[in-house]
Amino acid sequence: MADTVTLAPMDLEHLREVLDLGNLVFDVTLKPYTSWSLTAIAEHLDTDDNACWVALDAGRVVGFVLGSMEFEFREDWAYLEWIAVAPDHQGRGIARRLVDACCHALFARGAGRVVADVEAGNTASATLMTNQGFQAVTTVTLFVRSNPDELTPEEPALPLPPGTKRALIRSGRLTGDAQRGKRDR
Ligand SMILES: CC(C)(COP(=O)(O)OP(=O)(O)OC[C@H]1O[C@@H](n2cnc3c(N)ncnc32)[C@H](O)[C@@H]1OP(=O)(O)O)[C@@H](O)C(=O)NCCC(=O)NCCS
Repeated sequence: MADTVTLAPMDLEHLREVLDLGNLVFDVTLKPYTSWSLTAIAEHLDTDDNACWVALDAGRVVGFVLGSMEFEFREDWAYLEWIAVAPDHQGRGIARRLVDACCHALFARGAGRVVADVEAGNTASATLMTNQGFQAVTTVTLFVRSNPDELTPEEPALPLPPGTKRALIRSGRLTGDAQRGKRDR
């Protein structure tokens, strides 16, 4: 069935469908997905990295991957940040093809490594990445202390405004082992 699906570079015309598909499959109340927004997609279009691809079935966007040459402070590390496949097209190897298209583009642009972060409970994504040659190198656990005067456990966390995650990465407040290692030395 996957052979009816073709990959194409993501373009402006795909924005609406990519946004809607992400909203459908990402749990935007979970920390890793709270920055999903039109801004997050548009920023990826604003480069010539060639690392953003859509999977099309008869013109319909049934999957996408958004990658970039930007990961924290490492100029030679690239980032496969978002990937999704429509529920009615999952399990047909589409994500595997999208990961390969994205990684090939990033390596061709000079990336030494491509990084993907996977939420702990996301077995599908973890298996996908492992099968596509990614290795788990570190685990980050968010420790959260709630303000007892402002939050009750039942209240959902407010989503971050669009672009916040990327701004945190750029400012160095959201960082990883490579940068921490540099600071510790
Ligand atoms: C993760 C996701 C993109 C996989 O898409 P997919 O097109 O169904 O994946 P594929 O068919 O290409 O499968 C690729 C590999 O992942 C594994 N995989 C896919 N879904 C899986 C599942 N539910 N459980 C375990 N492994 C799974 C398969 O074993 C497959 O490996 P193999 O082909 O070597 O056997 C899809 O489940 C999805 O959109 N999930 C919601 C969004 C998400 O969590 N994105 C990742 C974070 S940004």
